[in-house]
Amino acid sequence: MDKKRTEDIYNYLTSFMGEIDFPLEAQKAILDSLKTIIENATASEAFFAPIERYESGEIDKLLPYIFKEKNSPLKRVKELTAVHEYTLDILLYLCATPALEKRYENKGLSRELFVSAMRDLKCKLIECKKVYDVWGSFVAFWFDGWFDMTRYALGRLQFEIKKMFTFFFCGGKFIYPGKRFLNLHIPSSGALNHDEVLASYKQAYEFFAPQFKEKEILFVTMSWLLFKEHKKMLPAESNVVKFMNDFKIVLNFKDPKNGDFWRVFNKNYDKKLTDFGAQTTMQKAYEKHIRKGKKMGGAIGAFIYDGETFKK
Ligand SMILES: CC(C)(COP(=O)(O)OP(=O)(O)OC[C@H]1O[C@@H](n2cnc3c(N)ncnc32)[C@H](O)[C@@H]1OP(=O)(O)O)[C@@H](O)C(=O)NCCC(=O)NCCS
Repeated sequence: MDKKRTEDIYNYLTSFMGEIDFPLEAQKAILDSLKTIIENATASEAFFAPIERYESGEIDKLLPYIFKEKNSPLKRVKELTAVHEYTLDILLYLCATPALEKRYENKGLSRELFVSAMRDLKCKLIECKKVYDVWGSFVAFWFDGWFDMTRYALGRLQFEIKKMFTFFFCGGKFIYPGKRFLNLHIPSSGALNHDEVLASYKQAYEFFAPQFKEKEILFVTMSWLLFKEHKKMLPAESNVVKFMNDFKIVLNFKDPKNGDFWRVFNKNYDKKLTDFGAQTTMQKAYEKHIRKGKKMGGAIGAFIYDGETFKK
């Protein structure tokens, strides 16, 4: 990619990161890193090659280029610039945002929808800062859903069409492998206000209904937030419990590795941990739970919705 184009992207990001609410300190750290890359001709060539391919429409996915992938060019960029791999990963996607904005425009989708999707980068940025003290992202494998435009941020929640892999009953209907459904995700963008959640289901229904033959759409989520113990840990009026109550639980699971520990304590689980630093009701409840030798877990939940009525 020529230097002029890389500078255009740099200039775009100087305002766009503010628009998606990146803290000023993060904006500065990320722009400094980008400048270091641009100023090193070899690093710049390696870093921007996938962005150029994404811009031209030759590729839709950047996943093969993220740092942890075997032959990622970002490994060479890190050697040349010493920019942290989590910063490189978020930068890779940030540099593709001008091209994604055009893709939204070409599809006749609003700029607001594009900006809502990109606010997810801010959630991942803050999580990375809290857990690793780095302005970047440690979950770059997740971002392609935004950039290949299969996932959309619609109000409080995020949605994409998926195909079911198992059998179960929901809302009086038999669900089978291969059935198309709306998979939903819950970003860490603030409290999970239940009215906003309901509005988001409706917004998603209206957005995706033209892509379904049936009027009643199956909504599914797989999340630690549906962990059945939460009903004992949290008050009935808590947002998490209200959210749980929206779903029929079709499968509960335990996670022997406590892989979602960081989502509660902003650090990875370590069985030698002595100070949990618990402050909130949920943290205190999980500290008790884990100290008793119990594991974290989650569930797959589902409901059927026709834009007006819910069935479980
Ligand atoms: C989903 C989420 C927004 C819910 O937060 P909420 O709206 O505050 O939820 P509740 O009303 O049920 O909270 C009840 C209590 O638990 C605390 N709590 C809830 N989620 C918490 C979390 N992830 N970490 C620490 N404490 C949490 C709240 O602060 C509150 O405690 P308090 O009464 O002492 O203030 C929050 O858990 C979150 O941001 N999670 C990260 C995103 C995520 O996990 N997505 C799913 C991925 S599969």
